[in-house]
Amino acid sequence: MALILAIESSCDETAAAICREEVMLSNVVFSQLVHKKYGGVVPELASRAHLEVITPVIEQALKEADCELKDIDAFAFTQSPGLIGSLLVGAGFAKSLALAMNKPLIAVQHMEAHVLANLIRKKEGSNKVPGFPFLCLTVSGGHTQIVVCHSPLELEVIGQTLDDAAGEAFDKAAKMLGLPYPGGPLIDKYAAEGIPLYSFPEPKIPELNFSFSGLKTAILYFIRDHQKENSDFVKNNMADICASVQNRIITILMDKLEAASEQTGIRNICIAGGVSANKGLRKAFTELGEQKGWNTFIPPFEYCTDNAAMIAIAGYYKFKEKVYSPLTATPSARV
Ligand code: KG4
Ligand code: ZN
Repeated sequence: MALILAIESSCDETAAAICREEVMLSNVVFSQLVHKKYGGVVPELASRAHLEVITPVIEQALKEADCELKDIDAFAFTQSPGLIGSLLVGAGFAKSLALAMNKPLIAVQHMEAHVLANLIRKKEGSNKVPGFPFLCLTVSGGHTQIVVCHSPLELEVIGQTLDDAAGEAFDKAAKMLGLPYPGGPLIDKYAAEGIPLYSFPEPKIPELNFSFSGLKTAILYFIRDHQKENSDFVKNNMADICASVQNRIITILMDKLEAASEQTGIRNICIAGGVSANKGLRKAFTELGEQKGWNTFIPPFEYCTDNAAMIAIAGYYKFKEKVYSPLTATPSARV
């Protein structure tokens, strides 16, 4: 049975994972802390940090999977999209391994890998995975898409954001509220203690596309107007403001997902990407699924935010069909 070693280095997570076909044997993620004090990811520092930790991260992945480099059948890496300097580190490392071990190199697209994370099997093989075709709402810091997955190698984007991604909307709202980066998980935390008392406008965007820039402006004016009257307004109402912002982002996402299911007739539905770690979104998605009679799937938390397990499973499906990449393959910042 094929063993795939995968490397993910598209942003500020240095990650390595090993799968035996669809079963994940190890999944190691090193989250770079160096960016915290800058309020966002600093590309130069990210590349340097990847280079520092990539060897120990891969060694740990091999150790946890209880295998050696010579056992690996192919080396997969994230080719796009992402920070180019960060991608180059993972690509260079994967190529060196493929060359040294004389095994195939497999390039993986990060957004497709987020979708395929829904197909990862637990060691015992007991978890439910979606049948084909399935719909996936992929929500991350850089992208927001609705994808039809016809098969592991046939993914069709049927809707996407026209401006900010859902994760960016969370992070920018958090920044306006004075919360540190990345603010998404903090909004999630405060929202759990609040009530969505404040109403932000829902954009009218055609078809299955999204827009979050209007919400950003609405939050900016909302804060400015209330702070004029009471300078402690944000501080005193943090939980309710976060619950209101989160509620609007979720309704924007759920309305389009519902429309996508109606339009395509597909009822196997998944969510993926960093924002799918949001507790409010997971709950709203599960409730909508129950109401609509969908089969819903949410990857375990560790496969939602950036990780190499999803690159490994995407790599495995390509390996199965012998979709290899030449050693001249280069990464790219855009898809
Ligand atoms: O998929 P991901 O780890 O990286 C990208 O490919 O972009 O997504 C990162 C995004 C960030 O914007 C972060 O704030 C958001 O996911 N995020 C969350 C939560 N956990 C991560 N947003 C809302 N609630 C969360 N619990
Ligand atoms: Zn991602």
